[in-house]
Amino acid sequence: MRYLVTGAAGHAQEVGWSLRKQCVRRGSECSLVFFDDAVSRGPLPSGLGDVVGTLDRVGDYARLGQAELVLGVGLPRTKAAIVERLRGVSLPWATVIHPAAIIGPNVHIDEGSYVAAGAILTVNARLGRFTTINTHCAVAHDAAVGDFATLHPNVHISGSASIGEGCEIGAGAVVIQTVDIGPWAVLGASCTAIASLAGRRTYVGVPARDVQTPPPARSVGTLDDRDLAGSEAHADEDAVSSPLHVPRRLMLPSKGVVSKGTHGR
Ligand SMILES: CC(C)(COP(=O)(O)OP(=O)(O)OC[C@H]1O[C@@H](n2cnc3c(N)ncnc32)[C@H](O)[C@@H]1OP(=O)(O)O)[C@@H](O)C(=O)NCCC(=O)NCCS
Repeated sequence: MRYLVTGAAGHAQEVGWSLRKQCVRRGSECSLVFFDDAVSRGPLPSGLGDVVGTLDRVGDYARLGQAELVLGVGLPRTKAAIVERLRGVSLPWATVIHPAAIIGPNVHIDEGSYVAAGAILTVNARLGRFTTINTHCAVAHDAAVGDFATLHPNVHISGSASIGEGCEIGAGAVVIQTVDIGPWAVLGASCTAIASLAGRRTYVGVPARDVQTPPPARSVGTLDDRDLAGSEAHADEDAVSSPLHVPRRLMLPSKGVVSKGTHGR
């Protein structure tokens, strides 16, 4: 089979590599041709194939015969724009699943999606059309990922969570169980969603907050009176229980007392 890959940057080459592995596993032929508006024509550094022109050339190659289209870009809006641009090309979109992905029973993966090496989709999960599940992502039981949504590497989507259409979930982000992320939302790298989030907004941090909302102010490291009182009480107890015992207060490092709520800041 000839595959017409839309995009030729690093992500497209990862998808192409995964596709080639998938073909090897199936024992089928795999020839990759790349199209990109911004990458010049010629062989790719990965050796996976050649860039033969811009996306406007896809139609010419489609007319040559049996082939499938491959989505080689990762950002949701770019994916949607390419699918729209090539709407007139009557070829199916390949679903690319690297053989090193782990996929459990009753997992539905729709047309044009990409599941990278090391991803794990456990049971009863559902991926819509043109989803991207990057390296080492986990999508747990009964979770759903909407059309065009992208999980960057190392994202964890917990059980029965739902990721809306077109969401971009940054590297290392976590969405806990049963939480819904609204359509076209962006979660920054390492963000953790512990409650459902409205769509079309950008969130960062742990727990997730709207990027335009300033983070909660941190208190300056003042010593809490209750902590001081506690340490005095312990010191006195020690002194009473053993006359040879050095009071704990005197054993503290010379730099001072570490109070609750300031440690490590
Ligand atoms: C969140 C993100 C989308 C940027 O959004 P943005 O609207 O352009 O925000 P900005 O870059 O203007 O940053 C706005 C504020 O959020 C903070 N911020 C940005 N990304 C953050 C993150 N991931 N975690 C915590 N804070 C973050 C910035 O420091 C800045 O803070 P400030 O206002 O106090 O200076 C981007 O930083 C991000 O994390 N993208 C994920 C990319 C990714 O995972 N790529 C993987 C490729 S394989």
